[in-house]
Amino acid sequence: MKYKKRKYFLAGRINLLQRSKIRELFEKARNMENVISLGIGEPDFDTPEVIKEAAKRAIDEGYTHYTPNAGIPEFREAIAEYYKTHYKADVSPDNIIVTAGAYEATYLAFESLLEKDDDVIIPDPAFVCYVEDAKIAEAGILRIPLREENKFQVDPDELVELITKRTRVLVINYPNNPTGAVLTKKTVKAIADMAEDYNIYILSDEPYEHFLYEGAKHYPMIKFAPDNTILANSFSKTFAMTGWRLGFAIAPKQVIKDMIKLHAYIIGNVTSFIQIAGITALRDKRSWEAVENMRKVYAERRKLVLKRLNNMPHITPFKPKGAFYIWAKIDPELDMTSEDFANWLLDNAGVVVIPGTAFGKQGEGWIRISYATEKEKLIEALNRMEEALSKL
Ligand SMILES: Cc1ncc(COP(=O)(O)O)c(C=O)c1O
Repeated sequence: MKYKKRKYFLAGRINLLQRSKIRELFEKARNMENVISLGIGEPDFDTPEVIKEAAKRAIDEGYTHYTPNAGIPEFREAIAEYYKTHYKADVSPDNIIVTAGAYEATYLAFESLLEKDDDVIIPDPAFVCYVEDAKIAEAGILRIPLREENKFQVDPDELVELITKRTRVLVINYPNNPTGAVLTKKTVKAIADMAEDYNIYILSDEPYEHFLYEGAKHYPMIKFAPDNTILANSFSKTFAMTGWRLGFAIAPKQVIKDMIKLHAYIIGNVTSFIQIAGITALRDKRSWEAVENMRKVYAERRKLVLKRLNNMPHITPFKPKGAFYIWAKIDPELDMTSEDFANWLLDNAGVVVIPGTAFGKQGEGWIRISYATEKEKLIEALNRMEEALSKL
């Protein structure tokens, strides 16, 4: 990948990054009155009290200094313990790095694994950071389409077709942002086997693992291909802690060593008292009760949104089993692009949704609706959408 050097002696590297295309939509919404946003990808809940209390206590107890770069040993043990109790997966604390969210985990993984002339395979549609991280790592980017007819599962046969000698990393994200799709055990296993056979790494981004519906289950990639997986995870969604910036990665020894080395020069360590609160999040029963309560509320909203959208003209939702998003298809007869549609909806209903193309070319013809929005607002937004769409 090439980049142009800028004038004024600034590095050209940052020019590679694309600022989010949905910025203009949000800008426009900000200048309008009475707009409801179904655009945002973060929980509307507050962080559970027991976790907030643990952070306050940790400050008072003096957890206000540097910690080991990889994270506080007890916290890494708590993460390993979590994988054992929730998934019967054996993870060593030595294979864990505590990061500033899954964002940092992904960045560290890309920088540690990819260089010029290497390829990374990224699903289309996909969460926005993978492509940008790949550009900074100067890697070649190949997109694997996620198709409605496959229920947005990665097709292992199609994947094999894309693999060449240059392929180093495959990105997988489930439950998925933006589609809400989860992966079956069979698909997870097929992807894991393929990574082992072709000796490539999987960056498996799993921050929505607890938001599952209709009996769906989560199968962490680490269980199936431990020597080939860099698992990125986060406290942001699970415990409604987006602002805390707390996450982690689990990776094979040779990878984790490099990730820690890089992390040591970027942020040194994640905030000490936040790591201590992370221990409480994982070990205290009350935080898990809060997670289950949030899941139940999301489940109710998901049902409501699906029911309402299914009764609206010109829009057809995919029925997701995870995360807190609905990926919905725009009636092709309307002859509107995703961006046209999102703009039209903002102008005519005062509702913000994300055009599917923000997540890749395959998102054309789709929008993402977030139901991490309180029920009254959600109902009002749906009423407005229905009214506007009925007039088309
Ligand atoms: C799939 C996915 N990965 C990673 C992130 C980043 O999360 P964090 O807050 O842990 O950095 C998000 C946030 O929206 C996400 O949806």
